[in-house]
Parts: sequence; C-alpha cells; structure tokens
Amino acid sequence: MTDLGAVVMAAGLGKRMKSKLAKVLHPVAGRPMVLYAVDLAQQLAGDHVAVVVGYQGKEVRAAIEASGLRRPIVFVEQEPQLGTGHAVQQAREAFRRLGRTFSAYLILNGDTPLLRLETVRALANLHRDERAAVTLLTATVDDPVGYGRVVRARDGRVHKIVEDRDATAVERAIREINVGTYLMDGPFLLEALDRLEPRNAQGEYYLTDLVALAVGRGLRVAALPVGDPAEGMGINTREQLAAAEQAVRRRICARWMGEGVTIRDPATTVIDADVVIGRDTVLHPHVTLEGRTTIGEDCIIRSHTRISDSVLGQRVVVQDSCVVREARLEDEATIGPFAHLRPGTVVRRAAKVGNFVELKKTELGEGSKANHLSYLGDATIGKGVNIGAGTITCNYDGWKKHETVIGDDVFVGSDTQFVAPVTIGKGAVIAAGATITADVPPDALAIARAPQVNRPGWAARRRALLAGATREVSNVQREEKSDRVTRHASRVTKKRSSVSARGPAKKRTRA
Ligand code: UD1
Ligand code: CA
Repeated sequence: MTDLGAVVMAAGLGKRMKSKLAKVLHPVAGRPMVLYAVDLAQQLAGDHVAVVVGYQGKEVRAAIEASGLRRPIVFVEQEPQLGTGHAVQQAREAFRRLGRTFSAYLILNGDTPLLRLETVRALANLHRDERAAVTLLTATVDDPVGYGRVVRARDGRVHKIVEDRDATAVERAIREINVGTYLMDGPFLLEALDRLEPRNAQGEYYLTDLVALAVGRGLRVAALPVGDPAEGMGINTREQLAAAEQAVRRRICARWMGEGVTIRDPATTVIDADVVIGRDTVLHPHVTLEGRTTIGEDCIIRSHTRISDSVLGQRVVVQDSCVVREARLEDEATIGPFAHLRPGTVVRRAAKVGNFVELKKTELGEGSKANHLSYLGDATIGKGVNIGAGTITCNYDGWKKHETVIGDDVFVGSDTQFVAPVTIGKGAVIAAGATITADVPPDALAIARAPQVNRPGWAARRRALLAGATREVSNVQREEKSDRVTRHASRVTKKRSSVSARGPAKKRTRA
C-alpha cells in the first residue's frame, strides 16, 4: 500500500510485568520487544512510521535508534499516558505538524512480537478489498483473560470490542480476542479520534472504541482471524514473555536450519534475532549465540558455549564451555575447551587458544598458539608465536594498563610473566619461568629467574638425619607401648583369677 502511515504504540509502563524496565524494552531473542512492531511497520509503511513513546521514552527511543533499522522514524511523546486512543491522537498531531496525512493507517501495539509480516500484509489486503473503515486482527485463544473481546452480532459481523475489565460475564466467556493490530481508513480515523471518551473502568481513551463508533455509523468493520493464535499473543506478564521467547527461538532455529545450518538440539539452542550463521556450520546442544554475532561457514560450535557480539570466520572450531564476547576469530582459528575471550580479542587465521586461557584486548597472530592456562591482556602477539603454559601478562600496575608486544616467531617458555610495558623482538626465546621486566632484542635468549644452585648429597644427608630422628622417636614410642602392654596384661591376669573363682569367663580377652 503506497499511501499508508503507521503508528506503533509503545508509551505504556506495562504494570503487569512488575519491572523497573518499560515493557516494550524487555528483550525477546535479544531484541527489545518494540523493535518487532517497528520492523513490521517499516516493512509496510516505509518512512511513514510514528512511534509513540512515554514511559522511559528516552530509553525506548535510544533502543530503536541503536537497532540498525535504517529508516527515519517520527517519535511522538505521549505524556501522560491516557490510553491507546490517546496515544494515536498524539501521533495524529505529530503527522499533522509534518503536514502528512495518509489514506490509511496501520496501528500496532508495541507488545506483540510474534506477529508475522505475511499476516499484517493479509490484513492490509483485506482492508483494501473490503473498503472498510476499520479492519482488525483477531485470535481465538484458550485463555482470553486480560484481552479485549471481539463481540459479534448474530450475523457474525463485528459489533464492538469490550475490554476485559469492562466486560459482562457473558462477554468474558468469548474466546475471540482483539490482537491490537488494525488498519483504519485515514479520514475516518483522524475525525473519529475526537469522539473517544474515557468512560470505562480504567478511565482511559480506548482506541478499541472506534470499532463500535464505525459500526454505529453504518461503516464497514472487517476482521481477520489469525491462523496461528500464538501470533496474536500480547506480552503483559513475565510468563507470556517466556512463552514468546520460546516461540521466537523456535522460529529462528527453523530459519537457520532452512539455510543449511545443523542444529543438533534446537530446544537447547539459543540464537538471538540478529545473529547470522553460515552454511554447514554445526551447533551442538546448549549453545547460545547472542547480539550481533556473525558465524561463517563450516564452523563447529561445541556445547555450553556462549558467543556474544562476535565475528567468526570460516572453519572455526569452538570447543566446549567457552565464553566469547566482542571478539573476532579468523578462518580456521580454534579455541577451547574452557577459553574466555573478552572484548577486543582478535584471534588471527589458524591460531589456537587452549584450555583455561583468557584473552582481553589482545591480538594473537596467525598460526600462534596459547594452549594452556594463560592470561593475555593488552597484548599484540605476532605470527607463529608459541606462548608456553601458564604465561601471564602483568598488564595492570594498580593504576594503569600497559601493553605487551611480542614479535613474530617468538618462543615463550612455560610459566613466564611479562611485566608490561614490554616488547619482545622477533624470533627471541624466553626461557621457562622468566619474569620479563625489560625489552628483549630480536633473536635473543632471555633468562630471568634466580640462578639454580645444586648441593651434591644434600638430600641424602637430610633423609639420613630425618630417619635417625625418626628412629629415636620410634624407640621411645616402642618403649612406652611395651610398658603399657605389661601393665594391662597384669590387670587382665588379676581380673581373670577373680572371675575363675565363680566359673569360666564368657569372652576371652584378646591379648
Ligand atoms: C490492548 C487492547 C485490547 C487488546 C490487547 C491486545 C485497548 C484499549 N485494548 O489492551 O483490546 O486485546 O491490547 O494485546 O487498546 N500504550 C500507549 N499509551 C497508552 C497505553 C498503552 O502507547 O496510554 C501502548 C502500550 O505500550 C502497549 C500497547 O499500547 O504497547 C497496548 O497497551 P496495553 O496496556 O498492553 O493494552 P492492553 O490492556 O493489553
Ligand atoms: Ca497488551
């Protein structure tokens, strides 16, 4: 539809969430809920989208602006929030100020993240074909509590929408609900908004009253029952949030499997909405891919790994139980198990990071290896470097962070500390157990530990000494023991002789 304006209502607090955070900012698959509605609105109405913000309006606006949705948006303040009808009134004023009117308006609640584009397109088509004043999306659900009910006349035509709190017992039993997605005729909407009155249980201006208004004027009201009622779910509670999260997650997994990604256990695989995954990549159970993560082709991601806002090239292998945040792994890099890559890490082509290795703001050069038990922070490491087990960059002096630079082909022996700032020249060798506090020239050997002292025969003498001491000690103990045994034996003999006078002892005392 060319001449279409859209309004996303996102000004409410969302009381039933019991949260400090505005409801529409709660993420579903890593994306603030409101973005699903804004995305749909833009797909249909392009640059003509108004978003009504109010509660935490600045934050809602910032979240939308940071989302990467490129088109311009008209942000509209609604303060105070007097209901959905009032929200659209504010949008009307904002469009008016811009000199924009449209022949039809798409109006969306900001809390229905499961809605599909095809469904909203079908709604728009029905609206056009029926030449309706109002066209609404409905869903028949098992538990309609909390939703507005769609009241139909005997002939099946929509008569009105009644909100849960205003409904009679008979109306409450209706299971067809208002999803909160509408197409409205432009001239009708702009004029009828002024007719709304807050005469209801909540004292609000209900957008939904426009349905009865149109019917009262003999105008056409059309309704599209959504095929999959789950799509119409509005998120009002944390339970609904969790249900929506699961549904979106299932869809995302299905989409990537459709694109040629192997997901061994979709039920335990968490992939955020904005993640991108290449073909023939294999995700093992319990993998979480978050934020703006991009993974290339033919990668293997093993279980219990979380990757956030990171970029992986092709044929990258991430072993079990790794945490990777804001990092870049080039083709054929291998990490883990139990690796922790913190923000600013770059693992170059075919480099290897092994178990219990932590990297922060560090570049590990092509083909280099840090395979065991290391901390590398604020370091630039060249190509073909071997970082020995237990190497630590001492990058923090208590006040500031300092850099470690290690040239190509350096060999770092195990258990080395680099007290930064320090630079190691190309091809140098660091002897194991070094505490490097000064720069090392290229191709040099650096040994930095206390010289070793060997004392011939010392250990044997010590053993002999200790053995002698032990012998003396045990002699004393033995004497004491035999002394105790003698005294005990004499007691037993005395006892027995007194017992035998009365008859045989029941139990023989062990000697
Ligand atoms: C609304 C509908 C109800 C429908 C349900 C579907 C009305 C009166 N009722 O009820 O028929 O079944 O959605 O989920 O419209 N908002 C504003 N400004 C306000 C109030 C709300 O922008 O002053 C926004 C909210 O942020 C939210 C949306 O409008 O995104 C819906 O508001 P909400 O309070 O959730 O309405 P419901 O009571 O669920
Ligand atoms: Ca709602």
